Order: sequence, then structure tokens, then C-alpha cells
Amino acid sequence: MKVLVTGGTGYIGSHTVVELQNNGYHPVIIDNLSNSNANVVERIEKISGKKPDFEKIDLCDSESLKKFFDNQKDIESVIHFAAFKAVGESVNDPLKYYKNNVDGMINLLKELTERGINNFVYSSSCTVYGEADKLPVTEDSPIKKAESPYGFTKQIGEQILFDLSKVSGLNTIILRYFNPTGAHNLGTGKGNSVMEVINSFEEVSGLKLKFRIGPRRSGDVVSIYSDTKKANELLNWKAERDLNNMMLTSWNWEKTL
Ligand SMILES: NC(=O)c1ccc[n+]([C@@H]2O[C@H](COP(=O)([O-])OP(=O)(O)OC[C@H]3O[C@@H](n4cnc5c(N)ncnc54)[C@H](O)[C@@H]3O)[C@@H](O)[C@H]2O)c1
Repeated sequence: MKVLVTGGTGYIGSHTVVELQNNGYHPVIIDNLSNSNANVVERIEKISGKKPDFEKIDLCDSESLKKFFDNQKDIESVIHFAAFKAVGESVNDPLKYYKNNVDGMINLLKELTERGINNFVYSSSCTVYGEADKLPVTEDSPIKKAESPYGFTKQIGEQILFDLSKVSGLNTIILRYFNPTGAHNLGTGKGNSVMEVINSFEEVSGLKLKFRIGPRRSGDVVSIYSDTKKANELLNWKAERDLNNMMLTSWNWEKTL
């Protein structure tokens, strides 16, 4: 089965492409390389033994997107990762985020619904929970006011999918990622948690960081982490990595960009 992976040369996308290949799918990547490097395609090939199809396309460029779908008739599902994701940057440049994350997604969904491509996985974010009243958050926790334009783009994306699913054949799964490399205690905002991360990073990288503890950045919530009980039970999924392992793999990834 051919699966389109938007943002597939990015951090989560590229790992997903490898998993898709290892499970017999045929992933096709589109990415504008705004936050990733074309050499990721070769790196994926090194890991999986298979070079994924890749086209450099910006989702905001509706003409190129249309042409892409005209040439790729047999895509059956889409995993949508392509977005800007820096909370702080979104506070300083909201239009950049609304334009890229919302416009790009609308262009993509327009092509999909017109062509009857009905299986869609959306990369949402824990930022949709805003400043949660109760921690850990569960699948039933309410959506609250987004603390940043980035978070709001994810809420808008979710709402678009709710509305579109009602009037089209679209089957949607919304995944609200927390910090894919960090354990829940990374988000508590306490000085010692930040220090744990810094210490772990210094340990695995061998580098000394220069740092100053300052006020919280605007747009960040005080604390957010998830209850993984449902995923443990339903998907048999368990978090397996400790902080050092997460720091090491993240650092290895960053070094090769
Ligand atoms: N990493 C996290 O902590 C985290 C947490 C919650 C949600 N998410 C979401 O998961 C998704 C993937 O995150 P990631 O960490 O892999 O980010 P990433 O920046 O590594 O990957 C995103 C990719 O999308 C591409 N892209 C951005 N705008 C595009 C556009 N208009 N057209 C085509 N390509 C475009 C970038 O070049 C990049 O390769 C994003 O939607 C992000 O908002 C990430």
C-alpha cells in the first residue's frame, strides 16, 4: 500500500517512513526541506535498505501539490507531519505559523477529498490541552485555550478534520504527540527537571553547555504530561527509553543534520 508521508524527511516523519518500510508499506515522502535535509532520504535507505520516493514540495504551493497527485494515482493513505513546530517562534511570528500549518493542510485535504483518498493520520500535539486543569492528561481531557499560535494551529487542524469527516468519506486519526524524546518529567518546569536534562545531555554528548535559568518562554505551558494507560492496554505500547537514551538518540540525530 502506498502511503504519502508529508514532512517525511523531518524527525518523526523519517522514523515513521522506516517503520512503514519495515512493515511492507510503500512510503512516498513530500517535504519542502524547510526544517530537514534531503540527505535524510539516503539515511533512511541505510537503515531500512530501501530508498523511499521523495519529492521536494511545499504544501502551500497548491499547483505543485496538484501535479504531484496527478502523477501519483495509487496513494491510499496519508500521514501528515509537515508543519512548523516551534512554540516560541510562533509567538513572535504568528502569521508564518497560520500560513504554513493551516494553509498547507487545507491544500492537502482539498486534493485528498477531491481524489477520494480517505485515510488520514494527523500529527496534532499536546499543546491542544493548553494549561491543563488535571495532570496527567488522558484522551478525555478537555481542549483548553491554546497558549501559543502553534498550539492554536493544531486545534484548527483538528477542527477542520472533525468538520470535514462529517461531510466527506475521510477517516481520520488524530495523534496528539507529547515530547517524542522526553519523559513526562521534562515538562514540569521545575529547575531540577531542566537540570536533569542538561546533565543528561552533557553526559551523552561530552559537551559542556553554557546556560542561564531564565523566565518561562511565552507560549509554553507550565506543565503537561500524559497518562499512557490506554495506550498500554489497547496497543500494548510501553515507553522503553530512559532520559540518557533519549538524549543520546536525539543528539545523534541533530549531529547528522
Ligand atoms: N517533535 C515534537 O516534539 C512534536 C510534538 C507534538 C507534535 N509534533 C508535530 O509532529 C509533526 C512532526 O514533527 P517533527 O518533530 O518531526 O518536526 P520536523 O520539523 O522535524 O518535521 C516536519 C517536517 O515538515 C517539513 N515541512 C514544514 N512545513 C512544510 C510545508 N509547508 N510543506 C512541506 N513540508 C513542510 C519540514 O521541512 C520538516 O521536514 C509536526 O506536525 C509537529 O507539529 C511534534
